[in-house]
Amino acid sequence: MKICKAENLFYLVNDQVALIMEEKEGRLFLRHFGGPIASYHHANAMHEMDHAFSPNPRPEDRTFSMDTQRQVLGQVGRGDFRKPSIRINHTNNQVTDFRYVDYQVLDGVPQVVGLPSPHAKEGQAQTLKLQLKDTILDLYLNLYYTLYEGSATLTCFQEVVNQTGETIELATCLSAMLDLPAGAYDVISFQGAYGREKRFQRQALKQGYFEIGSSRGASGHGQTPAIILADRLTQDDAGQAYALQIMYSGNFQAFAQCNQLEEVRLGIGIHPDFLNWRLASGESFSSPVALMTYTFQGLNALSQASQTFILDHIMPPAYSQQLRPILINNWEATYFDFNFDKLTQIVDKAQEVGIELFVLDDGWFGDRQDDQRALGDWVVNESKLGGPLSRLIDYVHDRGMKFGLWIEPEMISQESDLYRQHPDWVIQVPGRSHTYARSQLVLDYANPEVVAYFKELFGDLLSRYAIDYIKWDMNRNITDVGNGTSLSDTLMQPHRHLLGVYDLMAYLTQTFPHVLFESCAGGGGRNDLGVMRYFPQVWVSDNTDAIERLAIQHGHTYLYPTIAMGAHVSAVPNHQMNRTTPLKTRGDVAMTGNLGYELDLCQLSDEELEQVAQQVAFYKTIRPIIQRGQRTRLLDPELFSNDWACQFSYQDQLIVFYGRVLSTLEKSELTLKLKNLDPHAFYQEQSSGKIYSGAELIYAGLTMVVPRGDFQTSLQHFKKIQ
Ligand code: DGJ
Repeated sequence: MKICKAENLFYLVNDQVALIMEEKEGRLFLRHFGGPIASYHHANAMHEMDHAFSPNPRPEDRTFSMDTQRQVLGQVGRGDFRKPSIRINHTNNQVTDFRYVDYQVLDGVPQVVGLPSPHAKEGQAQTLKLQLKDTILDLYLNLYYTLYEGSATLTCFQEVVNQTGETIELATCLSAMLDLPAGAYDVISFQGAYGREKRFQRQALKQGYFEIGSSRGASGHGQTPAIILADRLTQDDAGQAYALQIMYSGNFQAFAQCNQLEEVRLGIGIHPDFLNWRLASGESFSSPVALMTYTFQGLNALSQASQTFILDHIMPPAYSQQLRPILINNWEATYFDFNFDKLTQIVDKAQEVGIELFVLDDGWFGDRQDDQRALGDWVVNESKLGGPLSRLIDYVHDRGMKFGLWIEPEMISQESDLYRQHPDWVIQVPGRSHTYARSQLVLDYANPEVVAYFKELFGDLLSRYAIDYIKWDMNRNITDVGNGTSLSDTLMQPHRHLLGVYDLMAYLTQTFPHVLFESCAGGGGRNDLGVMRYFPQVWVSDNTDAIERLAIQHGHTYLYPTIAMGAHVSAVPNHQMNRTTPLKTRGDVAMTGNLGYELDLCQLSDEELEQVAQQVAFYKTIRPIIQRGQRTRLLDPELFSNDWACQFSYQDQLIVFYGRVLSTLEKSELTLKLKNLDPHAFYQEQSSGKIYSGAELIYAGLTMVVPRGDFQTSLQHFKKIQ
């Protein structure tokens, strides 16, 4: 791995990836982002010609234009007509001309104050800091690029330092921008909605813009802060692709812009419509951190590069390899209707079948009889629980299980003591009526008083009770932004609110490192890398139907690790879809994530309970393979939407998962060609005892047959035997 400057070229290169930039008269150009190049000689130089209507900085040279060059940063008003990466309101205009001044190579990963940043062990990462200054203003721009040993992912962010003597306003300050050569590209994004999160979507990029983003104050169910650009012919096992992602959980924008030369600009950052950051002279502002990943080995390799990077450099280090407990959550079993006896009956059954963690969901505090009241009143409802919370916790612990609790720290019900005491703590426009969602309002975490109050309150809760796990929920998006003392103050509120939320997340996770935090936002409404820096697990969807989960889990694991994904077996007919699927199918689908249960075990027959006990016991034997193994897609969802298959490989073991949605008469079997095996070794399937050579599993494939009927799955476990 090296970061260096050779003549006017900056190299960041390891064995996976290279970023090469050139400085010319202080302007910075992107010469290459992609496969590792240690020695660059302008083989891909842009053909110099007069592009009419692309402005030139010098009258005598019509071949050079900022509009046609691949840039390191996109600025306003100097001839580059593409979307900018930096746009600043200053003096009477937005024009800037940042030029290179100096550089530094720093050890490690710079930590962005107040925002989630990646981490690395000593010696694993190095950073190039490029310092730029505007040609006429005392305005400085620092670009940080961090390279990681053995990783195909780099991270970057920019920092603006205002020394102009005047207050300026940041209108756009993206986290990453990549200008790429013309080509036939597809753009991949993850779309969806509540209950159908992370739907893989691939479409051709044509001249113009493709843009995704969120204005919800959270990344959102339908807006994953990530964008992939793939060559049109790139598939899971071959071809090149680029991914940009951002460690941010608020309003964001990600775009691919194909210009008149069919060159592509990719960008990702805080959504410019919601930044408006006022920067007084002497102050600085840093963008969130972005990830840039490249592969030339197909989309499976891209997924694995992203997942590995997240495990090694984003997820809290103590958790990235820590096997996750099999949990039972009472939400779909009882909703708000529970008492001590009901809960302990579930705990007893859970213990019988080998479940390891009991999670008490919503409804344990204040007057929370339903979802219309009491958010904010975080006082244990002892009359509902028939005694103190510690009695229930002890009951669970005495049965050898861990105890988990649900909280929703960012919200408040109007019908609550907290609201009656602090109506001003709500995000709102003074004088206007509120806008409600799930009958609740959002607390203003841009207000330091609110952050301090909840640090103390939840700090106290976690100190007082022996809680092993927290499910942190967030059940609505932000409206009525209007708490500032002036318009410019209010315009900064969305970002400042998120900084306050991150502050609480950082405080609680650092103070209580033994607690496993799982994030939730009505399922996957905030399943992003900002939150994953603090919380190593996420409830990816409220939709627990096994068939719907196929697409959701597929989308989650496209870029994020399996070990981050909670997956529960629930009752049938399913509460969201009203669909009935076999218990085996529900178990198999949940076992391709962190297995959990979310149903009333007391309602199951003895045979079903026995089946659950077998699932739990089996999962314990394969848990390291699923949670620590490499997940590889076997079927491209674009081509095979009725069939799903993936495999997990870990050390000498392999799990193959296959699911067929609807039964078809004419096509009774499917041949799956397995991947990443040793062709010279032999593999034994554990339930049948059958032995196959690695070569035949790779080249001839494995015949998959599931029982006739809809919604069938199979999960096979292989061990390498020589
Ligand atoms: C939404 C979550 O996604 C559910 O799992 C559950 O925790 C409810 N909130 C509780 O209100």
